[in-house]
Amino acid sequence: MTIYLDNAATSFPKPECVYQAMDRFARTSLGNPGRSGHALAQASEAVVEDCRHRLNQLLGGASVDRWAFTLNCTDALNMAIKGSLRDGDHVITTDLEHNSVSRPLVALEKAGVITLTRVAASPEGTVDPDAIKAAFTSRTRMVAITHASNVLGTVQPIEVIAPLVRERNALLLLDAAQTAGVLPIHVEKMLVDLLAVPGHKSLMGPTGTGALYVGERATLRPWREGGTGGDSFSETQPTKYPFFLEGGTPNVVGLAGLAAGIGWVTEQTLAKLHAHEMALAERLWVGLDASGYRVLGHRDLTRRVATVSFVSESMAAPDLGMVLDSSFQIAIRPGYHCAPYVHVSQGTRQLSDGAVRVSPGPFNTTQDIDAILEALQQVAL
Ligand code: ALA
Repeated sequence: MTIYLDNAATSFPKPECVYQAMDRFARTSLGNPGRSGHALAQASEAVVEDCRHRLNQLLGGASVDRWAFTLNCTDALNMAIKGSLRDGDHVITTDLEHNSVSRPLVALEKAGVITLTRVAASPEGTVDPDAIKAAFTSRTRMVAITHASNVLGTVQPIEVIAPLVRERNALLLLDAAQTAGVLPIHVEKMLVDLLAVPGHKSLMGPTGTGALYVGERATLRPWREGGTGGDSFSETQPTKYPFFLEGGTPNVVGLAGLAAGIGWVTEQTLAKLHAHEMALAERLWVGLDASGYRVLGHRDLTRRVATVSFVSESMAAPDLGMVLDSSFQIAIRPGYHCAPYVHVSQGTRQLSDGAVRVSPGPFNTTQDIDAILEALQQVAL
């Protein structure tokens, strides 16, 4: 049986209630929400709205209607970036970003729409708020930053950065791919204008789910125009949120699962889930030290999520990943993790073809960590 330690890519397994909710819903109530008006359509709409309520409650939105469901976090980030930036805008971002943030930004830069400043994080993996402050220009429209690096696991000082962004009347786009469902987030109190979340990571929903929170200060263009179930004679996309951003039939089965996942996370509590994962991460880190592997990023466990990346002096990361998979049935993610700039700044692009990333989740145990440590000891010998 595979030992799954790749929860930063997607959480697995899901809580039993998630599987049950999707199965039950798909068999009994799978109509098209907001369309048709019959009982199944209404049941579907209730599921979608329940999921929206749960998200709003967990993540501290000002209004349920400001959450638009998306395909995943990448979709939400594209919606935010391409929907809000205009000709001549300047954007500040960092070298910790996933390609989901950096590719749409670079595409707009190359198209001559925006100018871009990429602030370097410290070698330990933290962005200095003073460096963000220094990068502002009179044209800065957005700061786009990850909440926690998907490679290093380091949590960024959003509590310091967000007021700087607000004071300068720019928008803060926060990529919560690695934190939603594991760290406390209150978008309104944290002064976040645009929050992108995946449904399938720590919120424990299935793949094909995600959401974008759009605060009152952000003005977006519609992302995909089409059927919304109402206002059929409006020739253009109805402006009412969230439908403005939600053309087309949503992934209702997925949202039934996501609603159950959010319910499960809420019941478990973020604090308990995070503490469990961090205890596993620390155990892993101690063992890696003892075996001579080099772990990336700072070790302040109060400002990390449980994602741990490391390198071997003698073996490239993809080779190590292949051995762990094929000889030990241990699933981790080796390589560049769709985050090229951080591997350049860490020197791991040249040194080891990236890093080996281990990301425990709620269902991992100390035995899983001991198993990977034992495997790594054998490989290192
Ligand atoms: N963004 C996901 C990861 O970091 C897929 O692995």
